[in-house]
Amino acid sequence: MIPLLKIHPEGPTFSRIIAGAWRWHTVSPDVVERLIHAALDQGITTFDHADIYGDHSNEEIFGNVLRKNPSLREKMELVSKCGIKFPSSRRPATWVKHYDTSKEHIIWSAENSLKMLGTDRLELLLIHRPDPLLDPHAVAESFSHLKKQGKVLHFGVSNFTPSQFRMLQHHLPFPLVTNQIEISLSRIDPLFNGDLDMLMEFHASPMAWSPLGGGKSIAADERSVFNKAVKYNASYAQLALAWLMKHPANMFPIIGTTKPERIIEAARSLDIKLDRQDWFEMLKWVMGKEVA
Ligand SMILES: NC(=O)c1ccc[n+]([C@@H]2O[C@H](COP(=O)([O-])OP(=O)(O)OC[C@H]3O[C@@H](n4cnc5c(N)ncnc54)[C@H](OP(=O)(O)O)[C@@H]3O)[C@@H](O)[C@H]2O)c1
Repeated sequence: MIPLLKIHPEGPTFSRIIAGAWRWHTVSPDVVERLIHAALDQGITTFDHADIYGDHSNEEIFGNVLRKNPSLREKMELVSKCGIKFPSSRRPATWVKHYDTSKEHIIWSAENSLKMLGTDRLELLLIHRPDPLLDPHAVAESFSHLKKQGKVLHFGVSNFTPSQFRMLQHHLPFPLVTNQIEISLSRIDPLFNGDLDMLMEFHASPMAWSPLGGGKSIAADERSVFNKAVKYNASYAQLALAWLMKHPANMFPIIGTTKPERIIEAARSLDIKLDRQDWFEMLKWVMGKEVA
């Protein structure tokens, strides 16, 4: 079973691997139900959403499964995001893609996510992207309001730079428990650009989005990883997740598959104890050279 771990000393306890619902509108509602059960059966109890996924439809599709099986809610933790707006028939008042981190929008969006998901609370709400017009006082007021009402238990951000994280944290009476960032063997910048250092400084664990690079590079990378696949009796996907989880920042990979059997495959990555030299050899493959 996947272990549960606190994402921050004052934050929620999440499953070490998280299931991401971004692509789940591309499969039928029956498959979504099977994905939820497959995840829970493996101990993957945390689910990552955003208001905008599936053109604002995915939360409702997931919520329909919870409405049909009410006992499932107490077995899981729910994460959602807010702050991105784009033109859509579901949002006729929006004519240009933009960010909105106003107090009114954050509160409205979180309450709408609760309605769509069919739940009374989110374990975690994230600001989806850094907003150049972000007013930290407005964000602090909206977060405090949602927390006081018990509608959102914890808060974090996504795709923030260290200085954006620090600035917002400075204005909050409680900790940001994570920054959800893109990191994988296909995107290694956070190892070196200060993203992970800053999170370790704040005792906040990263949530790693597109941990398999969105699946794009799997076919090519499978060839180069072949000798390790034999050594560890593991697939590329398992090795790629094990590579992320070896980092001492305690990353929580968010897997995005739409295939229940691949959820089971991903769960096995926690059994792999990657040797330090193998970790560096995988880094060498993606950097195209050894470390200095
Ligand atoms: N905060 C942000 O800005 C942000 C941005 C993007 C995503 N996210 C979050 O991150 C989650 C994961 O993103 P992602 O979907 O790009 O993650 P991913 O796990 O890196 O990629 C999943 C994709 O890889 C494919 N794939 C191919 N071979 C696979 C294998 N052996 N095992 C698993 N998948 C394989 C999957 O196809 P199949 O479906 O056919 O398996 C799927 O299309 C999203 O659901 C969302 O919750 C957050």
